[in-house]
Amino acid sequence: MTTNAASQTVSGKDRVLIFDTTLRDGEQSPGASMTLEEKLQVADLLDEMGVDIIEAGFPIASEGDFEAVTEISRRVKRATVAGLARAGQKDIDRAGEAVKGAVRPRIHTFISTSPVHMKHKLQMAPEKVLDLVTASVTRARNWVEDVEWSAEDGTRTEMDFLCRCVEAAIRAGATTINIPDTVGYTTPGEYARIFRTVRERVPNSDKAIFSVHCHNDLGMAVANTLAGLQGGARQIECTVNGIGERAGNAALEEIVMAIKTRNDAFPYECGVETTMLTRASKLVAAVTSFPVQYNKAIVGRNAFAHESGIHQDGMLKNTETYEIMTPESVGVSKTSLVMGKHSGRHAFREKLKELGYDLGENALEDAFKRMKDLADRKKHVYDEDIEALVDDEILTAHDGIKVVALTIIAGTQGPQLATLTLDVNGAHKTVQSTGNGPVDACFNAIHALVPHEARLELYQVHAVTEGTDAQAEVSVRLAEDGKSVTAKAADPDTLVASARAYLGALNKLMVKRLRGKPEALAAG
Ligand code: KIV
Ligand code: ZN
Repeated sequence: MTTNAASQTVSGKDRVLIFDTTLRDGEQSPGASMTLEEKLQVADLLDEMGVDIIEAGFPIASEGDFEAVTEISRRVKRATVAGLARAGQKDIDRAGEAVKGAVRPRIHTFISTSPVHMKHKLQMAPEKVLDLVTASVTRARNWVEDVEWSAEDGTRTEMDFLCRCVEAAIRAGATTINIPDTVGYTTPGEYARIFRTVRERVPNSDKAIFSVHCHNDLGMAVANTLAGLQGGARQIECTVNGIGERAGNAALEEIVMAIKTRNDAFPYECGVETTMLTRASKLVAAVTSFPVQYNKAIVGRNAFAHESGIHQDGMLKNTETYEIMTPESVGVSKTSLVMGKHSGRHAFREKLKELGYDLGENALEDAFKRMKDLADRKKHVYDEDIEALVDDEILTAHDGIKVVALTIIAGTQGPQLATLTLDVNGAHKTVQSTGNGPVDACFNAIHALVPHEARLELYQVHAVTEGTDAQAEVSVRLAEDGKSVTAKAADPDTLVASARAYLGALNKLMVKRLRGKPEALAAG
């Protein structure tokens, strides 16, 4: 028996082995190839996550694959490392070479057994295929004790022949028997029946662990996988994010969470740490450049996001209303309430709280209307959009500092002099300041009247229209404590526009400082 033999756990439930083939079948997706460094990163994460078997590659396929399987075999300490091989001697020897440094090495050898594959692909008679099953497993056993044999296109194989092949493979020393749904053709009921029948009819079937391996051509890979378990399989072959040939393989995260969440229906245990699923998904998406679809189960960015008002309201009352598993259980820090045209007031208020605002009823109502308007015009309303619209809202109501009068003396006989009167929360204050140019003089005057630490990050002027009487539009960005704000102002006098833009930004910064203290704003 293998070191990873499926067994009963202390809880009395059957242990199901997770065989990850992201680095082999997953990498076979067109365009998903990974560098050695990336493969090592994925293998390390899979090992840490508690995957039982890592199929690291197909060593005969290329020098790169050989190197990756060899290197992964050297560094992985916990999981079994498998190398894939066709039934030929060269393939098996190459795989044996590559995995020989692993703590737990496995050779996974396969040959097609369906009539269509034997006739057109292999161009071999069934008896020849049967001989190769015995020969390939025997050769692999000379390298390692842990040998997996797969009947490629198993679900389209005649049952009598499948049983004869399985019996021969086990007799030759295979410890795992995989019956793959290579072309994604089977159905859950049929797949479960195949496993039941083979296990019943093959006399030595109790000497091996049976394995499922499903492709997703009809979108049934995960359902078929789970049905295979019900038929008696105890090893699952799958990939992170379901990447793989054509429509992909069964997705690891979906299977693991189905077993965890519906343990009443699938009473098995597996060793995968579910809180690492999101991390694994992100890593695989990044290294393969295969984006994860937004609504993908478990790891899609919308998997724990709620937009409709009814759902958001339910979630705020009790998360079990619309979530069957917690985001934390798959490594997502929290549920996100996405603001959009379907969102309700209750959720909007919660979102504002989360962003650090505590608005009174009227301000909240106003901001809510503006958010709805924005959602009608804009596809995604991000948290930054909400911050901007609420800040603007507060700002209009709390424009604490305003320009009352500004006179500048400029020209060739410097220094330039600004005489500025500001209304600071209702009190008029005047100062005279000089500067290196009229703008500098003006900003120095503001500094003198309203001392602050904010840094000027951007000052930009452009003419709104053509001609010397055009309005000047000035943009000013100020930064303080890692926050930056931008404000614009337009006036036919560039210096007045500059002073207004600067004060606009300063007012915004003050609002940010006062966030969460509505009484302070009201006072201002
Ligand atoms: O889909 C398949 O049949 C395979 C085998 C090599 C196991 O990937
Ligand atoms: Zn496959």
